[in-house]
Amino acid sequence: MSTAKKEYKRITVKTLVDMKANGEKISMLTAYDYTMAKIVDGAGVDVILVGDSASNVMAGHETTLPITLDQMIYHASSVIRAIERALIVVDLPFGSYQSDPKEALRSAIRIMKESGAHAVKLEGGKEVKESIKRILNAGIPVMGHLGLTPQSIYKFGTYTVRAKEEEEAKRLIDDAIMLEKAGCFGIVLEKIPAKLAKEVAESVSIPIIGIGAGNGVDGQVLVLHDMLGMTHEFHPRFLRRYMNLYEDMTKAMEQYVADVKSMDFPNNNEQY
Ligand code: KIV
Repeated sequence: MSTAKKEYKRITVKTLVDMKANGEKISMLTAYDYTMAKIVDGAGVDVILVGDSASNVMAGHETTLPITLDQMIYHASSVIRAIERALIVVDLPFGSYQSDPKEALRSAIRIMKESGAHAVKLEGGKEVKESIKRILNAGIPVMGHLGLTPQSIYKFGTYTVRAKEEEEAKRLIDDAIMLEKAGCFGIVLEKIPAKLAKEVAESVSIPIIGIGAGNGVDGQVLVLHDMLGMTHEFHPRFLRRYMNLYEDMTKAMEQYVADVKSMDFPNNNEQY
């Protein structure tokens, strides 16, 4: 059963800001392909993130760094063809926006033009401010991403909780306020203490979507394959698995193998 308010026929960046103002929590999941995106959209999820986690989930890379702009556009255009209601946000991949604001704008334009997505997301605070402004000036909505920013994994060294120290926590709040002032329509906050995340959500009027950031924020995002239990070698505390598809799919495929070998499949009703 969905508890999404169905009166939102189509989710826009403005809808999300209204949802926060009205105290309605925002649901967000990742998707990278047509078939999954159709299910996610049909289930009433408000925002679909074509995340650069596709680099891990779809391509099997250890980090999000290798995925390219062309590959993100491919995933985003598959998702866009599936949706009727959700807002589609696409990650600017590593290397497509860090060098200068003009390159950031070119990358964002490519995503919007070639995939038909509705918004882009990029990681970082004041170091990407000028890029954000340039993208916004072209009329492209931008979502920020603070806390654990996986594109900087080699700088952090680990995927542990961020901003536990006062100095980093203060910098994070300042960055969130800066992102709102620059014109971002929302911010993903990844893996930070719940108390700090709540403080950030209360410091800005744009929605804060958390992943491993507690329930004092304005919405939640999870990686689809993790929440469905398709991945199983990864057990962060924040992850709730709603299914164990890894086990169910394995069983189904093992049964298929057995049926083929025993010639149980196809039976008389399954042939022409
Ligand atoms: O790429 C991604 O899936 C993300 C989420 C973890 C927020 O950025």
